This record gives sequence, C-alpha cells and structure tokens, in this order.
Amino acid sequence: MKDKDLSNVMVIFGGTGDLTHKKLMPALYNLRYQNILPENFAVVAIGRRDKTEEEYRNEMLESVKTYSRFDIDEKIWQDLSSRIFYKRFDFNYDNGYMELSYFLDELDRKYNTQGNRVYYLAVAPEYFGIIVEKLYRHGMVSNETSWQRVVIEKPFGENLESARKLNKMITDVFTERNTYRIDHYLGKEMLQNIMVIRFANVFFEPVWNRRYIDNVQISSNETVGIENRGGYYEKAGALRDMVQNHMMQLLTLTAMEPPVNLDTESIRDEKVKVLKSLEIMTPELVEKNVVRGQYVGYRQEEKVSPTSNTETFVALKVHIENFRWAGVPFYIRTGKRMPEKSTQIVIQFKPLPGILYFKEYKNLLPNLLVIKIQPEEGVKLQFNAKVPGAGDITIEPVNMDFCQNCQISNNSPEAYERLLFDVMRGDSTLFTRWDEVEYSWRFVDAIAKAWAEKTPDFPNYYPGTWGPSEAEELLRRDGRMWWNV
Ligand code: BG6
Repeated sequence: MKDKDLSNVMVIFGGTGDLTHKKLMPALYNLRYQNILPENFAVVAIGRRDKTEEEYRNEMLESVKTYSRFDIDEKIWQDLSSRIFYKRFDFNYDNGYMELSYFLDELDRKYNTQGNRVYYLAVAPEYFGIIVEKLYRHGMVSNETSWQRVVIEKPFGENLESARKLNKMITDVFTERNTYRIDHYLGKEMLQNIMVIRFANVFFEPVWNRRYIDNVQISSNETVGIENRGGYYEKAGALRDMVQNHMMQLLTLTAMEPPVNLDTESIRDEKVKVLKSLEIMTPELVEKNVVRGQYVGYRQEEKVSPTSNTETFVALKVHIENFRWAGVPFYIRTGKRMPEKSTQIVIQFKPLPGILYFKEYKNLLPNLLVIKIQPEEGVKLQFNAKVPGAGDITIEPVNMDFCQNCQISNNSPEAYERLLFDVMRGDSTLFTRWDEVEYSWRFVDAIAKAWAEKTPDFPNYYPGTWGPSEAEELLRRDGRMWWNV
C-alpha cells in the first residue's frame, strides 16, 4: 500500500452542514492557498438537500470568503472549486453508495487520486454506523493497494458504553490505524507548543512537579451561549461537550511524562497514563469537588427545555495520583457566557520559605506561568521585582510576556488546516486514540452518574460572570483563587 502518497479524494458526509461551511472548506482553501494540498485531489460533498454543483460551489465560496484567514484569490479558488462536487443522497439507502462508488472511480481516473480516500463524517453520530457499514458493503474500504481513512467528529458517544459500541462499528471496518478521531483543540498551535515548552527548555522541566508547583488551573471560557445548537447541547452539556475531550487533552499534555521519543504512539502512551492516574470520582468527591452551573436565559434558548437541567458550566478539582503530581490539585473550568473568551493553563508555583522577602512582605504574589492558548497565543511569566526608586524597597509582580500571534496579525493556522493535512499524510499524533477516549469517558461518567442522583438548582449564574459562586468557593476553601490573568 502506498501509504505515504497524499493523493486522495475527500468525501464529506454532511457537506451542507455548519462544520463544512465554517471549518472544512475554509481550511481546504487555506491549504490550497499555501500550496500544501496535494496536486491530485478532489472533494465530494454529500448532503440530503437538493442543489446543483454550481449552487453548492457558490455557497462554499461565500463561506470561504467569510471564514477563511486568507483573502480569496480568484485563480486559486477556481482551481479548488472545479474539484468540488456535490452529490445528494440519503445515507440510509444503498443506491447512493453505488453511484458514489462509480463516481469515485471516475475521479481517480480524472485526478489521478490512486483510490485513496478520506471519508469525513461531519454528521450526527447516529449516522456513523450506517455510513461506515455501507461504505464497506459497497467495496469502498479495501485498504489494499490504496489507503482509506475515516475522520470522526465529536461527540464520540454519550458515555463509555455508547462510545465502545460506536468504536467497534468503526474500527471493525477501518481498523484503529485508519480511524482519526478529531479533537480540534489538538490542532491548535499552542497545544502543540505545550510539549515543546516543557521538554525543550531547561528552566521549565526541572520545576514541573509537586515539589515546585502549588496548583494548576486549566480554563476554557466562552462569551457565546449555545447559539443554535440547543438540540445537541441539551444532551451533551459542558461536561460532555468540553471536559470529556478538550479539557482532558489540555490536562494530559500539561501533566504527562516526557515520552521516550516523538513517535505518535509514544506520545499517546504517556497521555493515557495521566488519564489512568486520575483520582476516581466517587459521589462524595463529586459533591465536594465538582460544581455545575447553568446561565440565566439558557432555558429560553431555542430547542431547550424550559425545565432543563443541562449544565453550561463546570468547575472541578482533581488529583493525578502519580509520583510527579501527588498532592497537587488540578482545577478545571469551562463555561458559556463568561466575561471573556479565553483558554489558558496557569501553573502556580509554591512560595519560597518564609524568610527574607517572604517574611517581610506579606502580600507577595506567587510565580505564575501562563500558557495562553487563545485568543492570544503565548506564554507569560509573572515574577516579583523591585519597583525602581530610593528609600524602602517596594516589590511588585512584573511580567515577561511572549505573544506569538500579536505580530503576525492573529493569522495562525486554523486547527482544521493542520488536522486535515495530517489525515492526508497519515499522521495521527494529533488525533485521539481509543484508550484516551475510553479513560476520559470513565472519568466523566462517574461525574454524570453522581449528578443524575440530584436535581441541581438551575439557573445559577448570570451571563457575563465567572459562573456560580461555588466555583470561587472551590478554590477559596483551599486558600487559593482563580487567576483570570
Ligand atoms: C466545540 C464545542 O467542540 O468547541 C463548542 O462543541 C465550543 O460548544 C467549541 O464552543 C469551542 O472551541 P474553540 O476552538 O472556540 O475554543
């Protein structure tokens, strides 16, 4: 099998959906703009709506204009759009797949795409199984002289049990190696940078442990509400929507041991070990250390029940029970309708012994290392320094601030560009391996189960605030506070 050949036809199931409009097509255009897309390439978008190829291409042009980070270059768009095709069929019926199979062969001849396929399932999870099964039945997944890979969007199941079933259906056909589970956070520039910061700098690595670190705070805050996704969000809530995937990825990258090398599996092995070491969330711990919230107004959103108990905010404390981290709390927080859009990891260091300055100056602030994921990408270091001047010494916290996307006008590659390209070249490092999914569901299921036993007092926070007061209390009772820096 010519595994390294990037030539391929990308088949997008859900070709008229939001994800295709906002993320996939703009990413493909940006890849083409940078000359990264393989020369032998075509896209087949599949949807259930009736439209001509021309209508489809025009709609995509509008989306690319709105969401792409590069301006439209007429010639480049012409070249890409001439390779975009639209097919309408119902995912449940065989006819469509038969026609698709012939059409893909035709494209192979025209574009020299070698039989290689990326099947992108940008559809609701209930269709994953049927699509995969029909692709197999109609001979579109041979993986013999060419490669076929499947890309799956979240949610990957609703709990461990459903995730297992889903996984079996998919990997029975594609195998684990050809299954690409997307967590778009892994495509973000600064997530890829966490390992570099940790393992390529002598001054971070030696202090990255329980001896020097007091606590770690991982937050992903959003100002938006649930927008028009009420149907999906009602079943998911912040725990499944953000914690099970994105927050766990941030946690594992922050806490993992150095891998033995930079191979995909070595890195994933270390991430899984972190998930395996997570403290088991008993109902008592959930009661004590997990806070859920719902913003005022959520129950009035479209497709949301007026008595909904779905959470739009989670804050929790968890320990990683291994040698490096024993005793260090990891605080995780994510919510909708927060005061700002920001994702960051704050490492708070322990104070020095209570002599010299730490004796004289009671209000010294701790050293902080802030890894800023978005919207600003960078690293900030907060430390204490003398305020210039004669007389008594005054000490104040100062910052060394590295902002990597400030100079280049916020034009970092979109996560999906990186991820789509990685699928084509067969690199699954930035995708989630099954056991990562499995262990993070285990953690999340324990919380969901404990929550199901009690009715929350919702809504309990106002839009534009940092969530319910219990989230502040979670840290205050440990003598700490959230650093909104
Ligand atoms: C998605 C969630 O996975 O991530 C959304 O389903 C959330 O609810 C989004 O808004 C956040 O992504 P980002 O890249 O804006 O932080």
